[in-house]
Amino acid sequence: IYKWHYSGLNRWHGAGSTADFQKIIQERCDTYTQTIRPGSRSRNCQAIRQAFMSAFISKDPCKATKEDYNSLINLAPPTVPCGQQVFWSKTKELAHEYAKRRRLMTLEDTLLGYLADGLRWCGEPGSSDLNIWSCPDWRKDCRTNYLSVFWEVLSERFAESACNTVRVVLNGSLENAFDSMSIFGRVEAPNLRPQVELEAWLVHDTGKPPSDSCSGSSIRKLKSILDGRNVKFRCMDNLSRDQFLQRS
Ligand code: APR
Repeated sequence: IYKWHYSGLNRWHGAGSTADFQKIIQERCDTYTQTIRPGSRSRNCQAIRQAFMSAFISKDPCKATKEDYNSLINLAPPTVPCGQQVFWSKTKELAHEYAKRRRLMTLEDTLLGYLADGLRWCGEPGSSDLNIWSCPDWRKDCRTNYLSVFWEVLSERFAESACNTVRVVLNGSLENAFDSMSIFGRVEAPNLRPQVELEAWLVHDTGKPPSDSCSGSSIRKLKSILDGRNVKFRCMDNLSRDQFLQRS
């Protein structure tokens, strides 16, 4: 029992791979390329699915590298038209609603972000299957797991491609609306190119007072990261969810 538990498919502390992972990837890819963005360059969904699987299948699930995802990302780089990007941190649902209403794009509106949104995946050395029983947890097992590295490298490429004015939706109901350990804080903000302008929107829960503002210490931290890269910064605060969604 001991040996099975610690060497077997159940040994990780995170939930296992999404059932029917391959099928979902293929179906989402077909939907995206045929219905959601039929105008976009036609993409080979079978090749994309295969490149996704090759990135992690049969590999140690704690030894993911950015390079493992190179071929996949090169098949579908997460780039969006200039000035249309929306970043988010602790505001996933709100940022997606905002992007939809304004015809802007979050990472989950790019092909690879759309394919992987909400899914889980990991493999196992010596096996050609996904481990559906457990996958490494970021805290308890390892940070270099395939799920975390995927969102980090995809987010990095998304941020690097930003141009003109881009926006980030931050949660003004938290004491620190900007979290320097989040993907936005660690990966996206530090990879914006010089001359890009970032507009931060601090949005709080309707009916409650805000807990952070543009003059608070967390936003000053963000400003200093951007100053170091010559990224222009504007900040809007004290907006309730309803005000934010209705504004302009
Ligand atoms: N589906 C599942 N998990 C995701 C997704 C997604 N679409 N996007 C990010 N993740 C993971 C990441 O590992 C991240 O740590 O969920 C976590 C989201 O945490 P938050 O603290 O709310 O936000 P943040 O870490 O800043 O990540 C969101 O990164 O993916 C980019 O462009 C995206 O700006 C956004 C930011």
